[in-house]
Amino acid sequence: MKMKKFLAAVSSLVMLGAFTACGSSSDDSSTNSNNNSNNSNNSNNAEATTKADTDSDAGADNSSSAGGKKVGIAMPTKSLERWNRDGEYLKAQFEAEGYTVELKYSDNDTDQQNNDIQSMIADNVDLLLIAAIDGSTLSQTLADAKDAGIAVIAYDRLIMNTDAVSYYVSFDNYTVGKLQGEYVIDALDLKNNDGPFNIEFTAGDPADNNAGYFFNGAYDAVKEYIDAGKLKIPSGKKKFEQVATEQWSTDKALENMQNTLASYYSDGTQLDVALCSNDSTALGVAQAITSDYNGKNSPIVTGQDGDIANLKNIVDGKQSMTVYKNVSDEASVTLEVSKAILSGQTPDASLISSLDAEATYDTSSYDNGVKVVPSYLLVPYVITKDNLDLLVETDLYQWDSANKYLESTASTT
Ligand code: BGC
Repeated sequence: MKMKKFLAAVSSLVMLGAFTACGSSSDDSSTNSNNNSNNSNNSNNAEATTKADTDSDAGADNSSSAGGKKVGIAMPTKSLERWNRDGEYLKAQFEAEGYTVELKYSDNDTDQQNNDIQSMIADNVDLLLIAAIDGSTLSQTLADAKDAGIAVIAYDRLIMNTDAVSYYVSFDNYTVGKLQGEYVIDALDLKNNDGPFNIEFTAGDPADNNAGYFFNGAYDAVKEYIDAGKLKIPSGKKKFEQVATEQWSTDKALENMQNTLASYYSDGTQLDVALCSNDSTALGVAQAITSDYNGKNSPIVTGQDGDIANLKNIVDGKQSMTVYKNVSDEASVTLEVSKAILSGQTPDASLISSLDAEATYDTSSYDNGVKVVPSYLLVPYVITKDNLDLLVETDLYQWDSANKYLESTASTT
C-alpha cells in the first residue's frame, strides 16, 4: 500500500544515513482509568480553524498542499531514547511530503519548551506538533498560537487546560499498562497459583498525563490478585504518587528501587515483580536489582518503548518484556492528520480507513480540563525475548553483527 511503500522508502533512507541530524536550536546534547474505548462518534470534531483555512487551496489533493508550509515540532528531550526516534521520523516523513520542518528539543525544561514554541510561532509555522514536558504549563503559549491561527496537535502526551489543542495523536495509553499487568498475571499463572508473590511498582513522571494511564492500566489489571492476597506489596506503595518517577529518570528509578530493596527486602524477602511503566525507569530498576538485590530469583521486570538498552536487557534476562509502540507509525498518523488540517479539512473518524497503521478515533477519553480532545490512538503490543523478530519486521531494528542484540536502523539512536 501507498504508506507502507513510503515507510519502507523512509527506513531505507535512514539506513543509508541520508538524513541530516535532527535540527535543534535548543538541546543538542489523571489518573483516569478509562479504557480508551474506540469511539467513532464524530460529534466532537476539533475546530481546526487555522491559517490553512485561509491560505490553502482547501479541497486540493493533500500531497500537493505542502508547498511552502512550515511545521514546528517541539520534543521534550534528547536524553530519553524514544524522543530522538520520534523527532527523526517526524522530520523525515514531513520533509518527504514537501513540508519545511523546525524541530526543537527543550532539555526537559518547561520554560525552555515555552520559549521554543514561542520562537516557532514567531517564525510563522503553520502547524505545531508538541510532545509536552509538562502538560499543564503551555496554556499561555498555546493561546498565543491560537491567536496566530496556528493549529496544535498534542503528540503522544495530552496538553492540559487549553482549548488551543485541536487533536491528540498517541497510543492507547491505558492498554499499555494493562498489557504489563496481564503479562505478570500470565507469567506467574495467577489464575491458578495462589502465591503469594511480592510486587513493587515504578511509575512515570507526574507532569506527563500519560503516566497515570499507564499506572492505572497496570494496577487495574492486577488489582483482583492484590485484593485476593496472591500479590503482596511489601513496601505498601500502591498509589501513583508514591511510586512516580520525576522526568522518567533512570537514576531516580534506580535510587528509589535501591531504597525499597534496602528497606523491605534486606531481610531475605523475595521480590517477584518490578512493574515498571517504561524502559527508562526499568533500566534503573534492573540496575538496582543487579547491584542491591540478594535473592536468588530473577524478578519479572516490565517496560515500555523498545529502547535499545532494554532490548539488550531482555536478551540478557534482566528485563522480561517491553510494550512496544511503533513511533514511526505514530509519526505517519500524525502526518495524515496534519495534511488534512493543513489543507483546510477537519479530520474525523473517516480518516481511519486511509491510515496504514491500526488506530482508533476516540472522542470521549481524553478530557484536558477544558475540552475532550479528539484522539487518534495507535495499538501497542508486547515484546519478549521470544518475539524480538517482530521488531526487525518493522525495519526500525536489525540484529547486530553477532546476531545477539538488536540495534536501531535509524541514524540518531
Ligand atoms: C511516553 C512513553 C515514554 C515516556 C518517557 C511517555 O509520555 O508515552 O513512551 O516512555 O514518556 O519518555
